[in-house]
Amino acid sequence: MALSANSMGGGSVRAQQSAPDSSTKTIVFTGGAGRLGRALREELACDLAAIRIVDIEDPGPLRENESWQRVDICDLDALTQCLKGADAVVHFAGYPNERAIEDILRVNVLGTHNIYEAARRAGVGRVVFGSSNHVVGFYPRDLRVGSDVFMRPDSIYGLSKCWSELEAGLYYEKAGITSLNIRIGHAGKPPNDPRALAVWVSARDLAQLVLIGIGHPDIECDTVFGVSENDSGWWDNSVATGLGYRPRDRAIDFALPQAFEPEQPQVPGVTDYFKGGRFCAFNHDSVPRRRRIGRPASPGHMKD
Ligand SMILES: NC(=O)c1ccc[n+]([C@@H]2O[C@H](COP(=O)([O-])OP(=O)(O)OC[C@H]3O[C@@H](n4cnc5c(N)ncnc54)[C@H](O)[C@@H]3O)[C@@H](O)[C@H]2O)c1
Repeated sequence: MALSANSMGGGSVRAQQSAPDSSTKTIVFTGGAGRLGRALREELACDLAAIRIVDIEDPGPLRENESWQRVDICDLDALTQCLKGADAVVHFAGYPNERAIEDILRVNVLGTHNIYEAARRAGVGRVVFGSSNHVVGFYPRDLRVGSDVFMRPDSIYGLSKCWSELEAGLYYEKAGITSLNIRIGHAGKPPNDPRALAVWVSARDLAQLVLIGIGHPDIECDTVFGVSENDSGWWDNSVATGLGYRPRDRAIDFALPQAFEPEQPQVPGVTDYFKGGRFCAFNHDSVPRRRRIGRPASPGHMKD
């Protein structure tokens, strides 16, 4: 289904008091031609002075304050040029699903590394990263987790997002670049299964988080969940709430009829048990495992 603000909960971000004023800011938006990129541009266009899209694909008709450069994020020099003079990078370019590891390494890992390195070289101090709930996909659905728990990626794709979140920390420690990692749930289309009801986020709620990421003065290297006001309770999103996030949409109000039908698990005891759903199934041997949730740190591990 084509993405539109209506189909995934659109509305004016400016009307919300919780997102900081970014009306004088210029951002570089990687992946601005993609599904989420297009939906977010629709939400954000009025809230920013300028949006410079960086994408290998044509982003479609540009608004007055938008421009586009066809640049591959794997090209560090070209990327650095694109970033010069910007206030922030909103980084959404990359593969949004499981792929061969060579592809994931080139675009999601090296490409994201280039974002941080280009930001350092160009003097851009803020990155907003489109991370994924699949960083923590191997947590059980009935366990509410915050954004500070150990990473438990459910796929090579999820693993690439772990790398990128850690990279945000590295560049904060070494270069003072501040970042907001947004672990996006299910975005860009209406909730169409029971899992999506739990992890769905509307365009305007996601846009609110992006604006917080661009403009909030207290961000160092923080991680939040990109989910709307859903009933599931899968995530403790108190870091986002602390930054002023006030979701305005609920999955249930946008759900398709099939979202309420019983789940047909691809790997019983796995895809219906863990939060990551079908992402847990890639190369899974179909044996359900219940890994310990927390292991006390041994004193030996605490020494340098
Ligand atoms: N859609 C979701 O539900 C969801 C959930 C969690 C996380 N995310 C993340 O959000 C981001 C956007 O997802 P999407 O659904 O819009 O994906 P998408 O595939 O529609 O958009 C990705 C964009 O990145 C561009 N791109 C890919 N490789 C590039 C390169 N080497 N250089 C420059 N541009 C490149 C593509 O041309 C495309 O326009 C991704 O990072 C994805 O992992 C999405």
